[in-house]
Amino acid sequence: MKIDTITIFPEYFAPLQLSLIGKAQERGIVEVGIHDLRSYTSDNHHSVDDTPYGGGAGMVMKPEIWGAALDPLMTKESDLIILTPAGRKFDQPMAHELAQATHLVFACGRYEGIDARVGQHYAAKGFRVHEVSIGDYVLGGGEVASLVMIEAIARLLPGVLGNPESLVEESHVQEGFLEYPNYTKPPTWRDIAVPEILLSGNHAAIAQWRAEQARIRASEGL
Ligand code: ADE
Repeated sequence: MKIDTITIFPEYFAPLQLSLIGKAQERGIVEVGIHDLRSYTSDNHHSVDDTPYGGGAGMVMKPEIWGAALDPLMTKESDLIILTPAGRKFDQPMAHELAQATHLVFACGRYEGIDARVGQHYAAKGFRVHEVSIGDYVLGGGEVASLVMIEAIARLLPGVLGNPESLVEESHVQEGFLEYPNYTKPPTWRDIAVPEILLSGNHAAIAQWRAEQARIRASEGL
């Protein structure tokens, strides 16, 4: 999978060199390109924003600069993801859906967001455009939101996780169950013992206990 992100803060993406995604890049499973939006400006001040039509507080990112940055990246294979708190809520099914894509382009807005015509234009040209929010809160910009999405999507790609079994187990999350509690050694820590059943070696009983625990967690909304 190819991933491109466009941002005025390329430094935000340094963590993509670490851990699973860093290794996935080394192995050629994902290729990440980080693009500085300011390099597409043509004025002396490299300005990327302007005051909103209709008035109001804050600044809006200029469409011409986004167009100049996006045009060379977008192909028929591309899905454009515009990060905005007003977008559709990101969740695990969306992560699975986007993990099927060939090329993801993340547009990281700042300020009061990107001029609405940018998404409109690429959608009208026939590109797949997704306006996405990672949750009901307002971040300083789309950078952290796109990092969250990239991590959730990239770990679903074949060969990224060391143990693909973990993906099978967590599929319960998609069925509405949150995962059961996990324990490792020692058997007792600070007077808290690991539930007896997990030491029993009875795999059927363990599976049943875990399913029950996951159900309890889900019903309690944990
Ligand atoms: N930009 C600002 N807040 C955001 C959010 N919650 N999700 C995605 N992009 C954002």
